[in-house]
Amino acid sequence: MHSIRYVGKELSCEGVTIASLVQQHGTPLYVYSQATLEDHFDKLDNALAPLDHLICYAMKANSNQAVMRVLANAGSGFDTVSEGELRRVIAAGGDPAKCVFAGVGKTEAEIEFALKAGIYCFNCESEPELQRINQVAARLKKIAPVAVRVNPNVDAGTHAKITTGTYENKFGIAFEQVEGVYARAAKLKNLRLRGIQTHIGSQLTSVKPFEAAVNKLLPLVTKLKAKYKFEFFSIGGGLGIIYKDALASGDPAWWQTPAAKDILTPATYAAHLVPLLQPLNLRILIEPGRFIVGNAGVLVTRVEHVKKTGKKNFVIVDAAMNDLIRPAFYDSYHEIVPVTKKGGATVSSDVVGPICESGDYFCKDRPLPKVGEGDYLALLSAGAYGSVMGSNYNSRALAAEVLVHGAKSAAVRTRQKIADIWADERLADWLK
Ligand code: LLP
Repeated sequence: MHSIRYVGKELSCEGVTIASLVQQHGTPLYVYSQATLEDHFDKLDNALAPLDHLICYAMKANSNQAVMRVLANAGSGFDTVSEGELRRVIAAGGDPAKCVFAGVGKTEAEIEFALKAGIYCFNCESEPELQRINQVAARLKKIAPVAVRVNPNVDAGTHAKITTGTYENKFGIAFEQVEGVYARAAKLKNLRLRGIQTHIGSQLTSVKPFEAAVNKLLPLVTKLKAKYKFEFFSIGGGLGIIYKDALASGDPAWWQTPAAKDILTPATYAAHLVPLLQPLNLRILIEPGRFIVGNAGVLVTRVEHVKKTGKKNFVIVDAAMNDLIRPAFYDSYHEIVPVTKKGGATVSSDVVGPICESGDYFCKDRPLPKVGEGDYLALLSAGAYGSVMGSNYNSRALAAEVLVHGAKSAAVRTRQKIADIWADERLADWLK
């Protein structure tokens, strides 16, 4: 349950009004609730308590150092996909020994860095990768812990751009090939076959695809565990969050309504998966990203202009697709609410950013309270895959980020300075 709600007319994050944060930090502004991060982590952790388990937070969802520190303090490990992410874990005070390293294109330098850092396991996505890890480990006189990422060919029924577990996707090794791959990997002297992994997709709102994938893998995992003395089975991430009823779901009463019945909660997830996994007697890893941070964050933006054309009511705001690309990239829905509650009738509106692309919109034809220049809006459920996917397109500075803890708040990323956007660029000699 998240801690973003109206207190009187003021949208608040825990004990702080969003309006006061806007006064202090300006917009576009990401705001995160520490209580929500901790609550979501603990809910999952408690639901999985019957299993020997480790949560490896998928930091690709939000790798702000303060967010990572909160989760490291809660006991989280991290699912990483690059040297940059591993370095971020170390900088944030996380434990590399609780890190897995996934991704289809690990370079030699990245493998070397991860081996020296002492990560828990490489999740390997191809045979050439296993060979490369073996070679690097041999050169460093180390034994590399590896797991094969199995592509189970199970359709997760989610958006095409975030489906990963079918043979249309570049991820993992096809289910039918996995035994052979392990047999060949077992001959590579500098590898330790530590476990097995799968991940089928993101924003899954039903437990069924998870169940299907685990059920499909169980016989294989049991067999390979006996053969190679596996220590763990990672079932990946992918737990979906609430986008449509985001604000309402911050109220405990909402969870008693019929709408809440279909939500994939940690309790439902565990009720279906723990009984399947328990008999394996393995350590179970999960790699949730969105579930932990998604509803913990909002993106706050200022209304710059309202433009009425014959057909449309455009609300032009100061945040854009460079700050939050999800609507443009995945047609995703983010609930939009005023920072200070407004009465009166709603107006069908398109909320759009200032970037020179027709795709730069946050919603289309959505009934919203009538707003004018200088009003502030909040885009909800923006904590995951929001700020991390930010860019400098149109030479727009990266947004500031604030963490709220009870009545306290702190800037956990200051707004990027405009001159820093091109600070690494150089003129070629002949242009000087
Ligand atoms: N593990 C692996 C191997 C993954 O590829 C991913 C996500 C996760 C875990 C975490 O998934 P989550 O629990 O967050 O669903 N940018 C997209 C989502 C991309 C997800 C990529 N992989 C979006 O904004 O919807």
